[in-house]
Amino acid sequence: MFNLILFGPPGSGKGTQSEKLIAKYSLKHLSTGDLLRSEIANQTALGLEAKKVMDKGELVPDEVVIGMISTAIDQNPDAKGFLFDGFPRTSAQAEALDKLLDLKNTSISIMLALEVSEQELINRLVKRGETSGRSDDVNVDIIKARINEYHKKTTAVADYYKQFDKVVLIKGEGTVDEIFHHICQEVDNIM
Ligand code: AP5
Repeated sequence: MFNLILFGPPGSGKGTQSEKLIAKYSLKHLSTGDLLRSEIANQTALGLEAKKVMDKGELVPDEVVIGMISTAIDQNPDAKGFLFDGFPRTSAQAEALDKLLDLKNTSISIMLALEVSEQELINRLVKRGETSGRSDDVNVDIIKARINEYHKKTTAVADYYKQFDKVVLIKGEGTVDEIFHHICQEVDNIM
């Protein structure tokens, strides 16, 4: 099984590159952001609670997202591999993911970390907010809160995988196709 974490701050291009990667490598895309937005759209109790946190640009509690990922992994027993997008976002989530994959006799193959300047992240998300309807893109303060949350809680996840020598940095600025080409080179190297 080939299991990839696409890592990076809000607006770094994880969702954009994930779409292309799952098409090319037939991986199952697991995005906790998409799973949470689907709960919100369906107005579930989990979704209503999560929305309050997401609208402030903060992270949803670990146990909620770990539970969602655990269910999603179990629902896809025939997957060739998983592409994790927006997960794990804390050290506790990373440790839980390793345990879940261990139960399936598999592990993370590689983490690709997209690097984009803070100003470019803000520009991209402000622009997307003009049309996306995403409530966490609506103003610069929320966008900055999301980026702060990333620095405070999520960068530690890259350190966690560095100890296992699994992290590759990817320049996340340039055209979508240029970045995709670079990512594919790294994937092909270890697949
Ligand atoms: P989530 O949905 O994961 O959002 P995010 O990490 O904030 O990331 P985005 O979707 O905004 O950006 P992206 O990196 O995917 O970039 P994209 O390709 O979209 O999380 C949302 C919230 O849910 C969190 O704040 C949190 O509350 C909660 N949550 C989710 N997962 C959680 C977890 N594990 N634990 C706890 N809470 C969790 O691109 C962005 C824009 O840039 C687009 O408009 C795109 O067209 C454009 N773009 C992409 N590439 C380029 C390029 N090369 N050049 C120019 N523009 C580009």
